[in-house]
Amino acid sequence: MSSPAQTTPARVLDEILAHRRAVRQFAATPLPDEVVHRSVQRAMLAPSSGNMQFWEFYRVKTPAKKEVLAHLCLSQDAALNAAELMVVVVRKDLYRQRARRVLEETLQLAPDPQAAYLQKARLRYGKTYPMYYFMDPLGIKGIFTRLFLRLKRLTRPGVLTGSACDLRVTAHKNVALAAQTFMLSIAAEGYDSCPMEGFDGPRIRRFLGLPRTAEISMVIALGKADPHAELPPRVRLSMEEVYREV
Ligand SMILES: Cc1cc2nc3c(=O)[nH]c(=O)nc-3n(C[C@H](O)[C@H](O)[C@H](O)COP(=O)(O)O)c2cc1C
Repeated sequence: MSSPAQTTPARVLDEILAHRRAVRQFAATPLPDEVVHRSVQRAMLAPSSGNMQFWEFYRVKTPAKKEVLAHLCLSQDAALNAAELMVVVVRKDLYRQRARRVLEETLQLAPDPQAAYLQKARLRYGKTYPMYYFMDPLGIKGIFTRLFLRLKRLTRPGVLTGSACDLRVTAHKNVALAAQTFMLSIAAEGYDSCPMEGFDGPRIRRFLGLPRTAEISMVIALGKADPHAELPPRVRLSMEEVYREV
């Protein structure tokens, strides 16, 4: 760790980012409840489009349930060896409840009930977002929304979105930010993780008793890295390959 004189937020962040590796071999050390709870709370501070917070977190820690879930993660090393598993779920299907909940709390917390932003919030959460995230089973509304936006974009810049697929991308993008915040917190607490998308999503959904409309974003293996296990080298592209100034 850095000495106090060198401790700046940027250095602390560097240390956390260096610590966070995709760990697949774990020691038998259990994860303290507080570490997981604090990390979920930090994950919930992740930004989200329209502050809709489409995430849910399912912690699976009893050995019997963990074994079933590891099997649904295709029995991969990280899942089998983890002290426990966290399933990060996308609940775009709860858009009405989420919009209502965010609006209610925004209204409650606003010091000035006449503030101009409250009018906007009422419109957004009361009408715009519920309309935007509504999707009929055949996705027909999405086709018309996209067509309308395409026409609108003929004369000025505009967002081209609205299909069922676009909405899923938005929701998964949001939830992935929370998953990353969670893993960084786990690293900051001195523990380790491995995000996984090698899993059988529909079976995990059934295992958790979730409706068909819920989607699995990631399963995260958690624990303390086995100090004797060797990590692969950390391979990253160079800045020249991925960074442009325009
Ligand atoms: C969305 C996502 C899915 C991943 N799925 C798996 C997986 O199923 N199994 C696995 O062992 N690692 C998985 N990884 C971990 C990556 O392999 C790992 O992050 C990458 O190799 C870089 O290594 P590092 O995280 O140690 O820097 C996944 C990572 C992400 C972000």
